[in-house]
Amino acid sequence: MKIKKAIPILLGLALAVVLAAPSQAADLAAGKDKYKVCAGCHGPTGTGNAALGYPQLSGKDAAYVAEQLRAFKSGRRESATMKAMVAGLGDADIDNVAAYVATLQ
Ligand code: HEC
Repeated sequence: MKIKKAIPILLGLALAVVLAAPSQAADLAAGKDKYKVCAGCHGPTGTGNAALGYPQLSGKDAAYVAEQLRAFKSGRRESATMKAMVAGLGDADIDNVAAYVATLQ
């Protein structure tokens, strides 16, 4: 009897764990696709172009990149160029492209 009563509680806990799990992992393929336009300035491998003022992205981690992209979007970090670049990116796009950037060496 006690075990039967515990089953719904256990199921509830299991569901809570599933729902609390972090949202889906970043989609690298989608991120790579979004990066195509970025490559024009930051380079296909993220080396950037110091002479033209395009910073290197390779070697930067996803959390940092995502935070910068959100800062450009909100205007917290000022750059007319980058603001235009991220204007069309949604939250998932930002996470995906940031995850892809983090794979660049
Ligand atoms: C037209 C050229 C151009 C394109 C295209 C471009 N960027 Fe940038 N990006 C810049 C410039 C210039 C800066 C420096 C902005 C500043 O700090 O003033 C920059 C800065 C950044 C930074 C901050 C780097 C750091 O060290 O803090 C990130 C991250 C970034 N870009 C990612 C991207 C991503 C992702 C894309 C594609 C969605 C993209 N950029 C497309 C020119 C470009």
